[in-house]
Amino acid sequence: MVKTKLHKNISSWTVRDISDDSRVLLRVDANVPMIDGRVSIHGRHRLKSILPEINRLRSRGARIVLIAHLGDPKGKFVKSLSLAPVARALARVIDHPVRFIPHPVGEEAARVIDRMAPGSIVMLENLRFDKGEEKNSADFAKRLAELGDVYVNNAFSVCHRKHASMVAVTKCLPSFAGELVVREARALLMVPKHPFVLILGGMKISTKIPLIKRLGAHANAILIGGATALTMLKADVGSLPVDVPEFTKPKDVASAKTIAKKFGTKIYLPCDLVVMKNSVLDIGPSTIESFCTAIASGKHIVWNGPMGMTSREDGFAGTLAIAKAIAKNTKAVSIVGGGETVECLEEFDLTDSFTHVSTGGSAMLAFLGGEAMPGLEALAK
Ligand code: 3PG
Repeated sequence: MVKTKLHKNISSWTVRDISDDSRVLLRVDANVPMIDGRVSIHGRHRLKSILPEINRLRSRGARIVLIAHLGDPKGKFVKSLSLAPVARALARVIDHPVRFIPHPVGEEAARVIDRMAPGSIVMLENLRFDKGEEKNSADFAKRLAELGDVYVNNAFSVCHRKHASMVAVTKCLPSFAGELVVREARALLMVPKHPFVLILGGMKISTKIPLIKRLGAHANAILIGGATALTMLKADVGSLPVDVPEFTKPKDVASAKTIAKKFGTKIYLPCDLVVMKNSVLDIGPSTIESFCTAIASGKHIVWNGPMGMTSREDGFAGTLAIAKAIAKNTKAVSIVGGGETVECLEEFDLTDSFTHVSTGGSAMLAFLGGEAMPGLEALAK
C-alpha cells in the first residue's frame, strides 16, 4: 500500500498512562442501523468492536465517557436519533451497565461524570444534536473536553470526518488512538502480496474512483460488480440492457472511461447480469465463475461493496458466491469493509473467515484511496 506519515508510529498513538479513575472521553462509532426504535441485528459488529477498548480501559480503572453520533440530525434534537436505545443495546453486548446521559455536554453531564466509580461507563447523547459537532467548533470541543481528562479515538469509521469530537477536541486534551483504530490502520496499510485482487461493488462509483486510481497500479485484478459495474459497462460498451440514469450520469461515465483507459486489462466487468423488470438484480453465473477464478489465485484480497441487490432473495447470489470464494482461499490475506457488505457476511455467518473485517465503509474507501483522514491526522500530529 502507499505509505503515508500515518505509517510511521501507529503504536505510539495508543494510550499508555491512565491514572486510576481518569475520566476517559472515548469516541466510538455507535452509528448503527435502527428498526422501530431498536438497534437492528446488523448493528452488532460495530457495537462488539468497541468491547476490547472498553475492557482495556476498565482494567486500568478508568471512568469511561462514551461519545458518539447517530444519523444526521443537523444540529437539532431528533427523538428517533437519540442514543438512549443504543446505550441499552451496548450494555447487553458488553454485559456491563451503561448509564445514558440525555445531553451531549453541559452541567448535568459533568455532575453525573464526577460521581462515577472507577471502571463504570456512561454514554452521552448524540453529539450531532449540537451544531458545533459537524462544524468542528472549538467551543463545542472545549465543552466536551471539560468532561474528560484524556481523549481516546476508537471510531475508525468516522476518521474521514473533520468534526469536533474527532479533531478539535484533540487540541484540548491528551489524545490517543484506541486499539480499533490501530488495528484498522495496520490492516489497511498492509503491503499486498501478489496477485492482489481488488473487488468493488455497491452503488456509488464516485466513492470508488480515488481508490481505483490509487491502488489500480498495485492490483493484478480489479473485479467490479454492483451498480458500480453498470457505470463502467456504460463507459465501456455504450449501452446497457436497462435504463439506469442514476448510474449513468455523464460525469460518472467520464470518470469510468478514464479508469477503463488506464487499467483496462486488469478490470473484470460482468459478462452477464440478472435482470428483472428493468432492474439489474445481480451479476450472472458466468461472471460469478470468472470472478471466483480470479479470487482463487489471489494472495491479497480487498473487498468493498455488494455485487447485487442483496436485500432481495433473487439479488444476493453473486455476493454470497464472492464471499464464499474469498473464505475458501485461506492462503490469502482478506480485508473486507462497507456496511452492506459486512451485513451480508454476518447473514452468511462468514465474518470469521476473513483476515480483517473493517468497521469503516466510507472511511475504508477514503483511507485506501489516500484521501484526507482528519481524525487520524489529528492523532498523528
Ligand atoms: C458510518 O456509519 O460510516 C460512520 O459512522 C460515519 O457516519 P456519517 O457518514 O454519518 O458521517
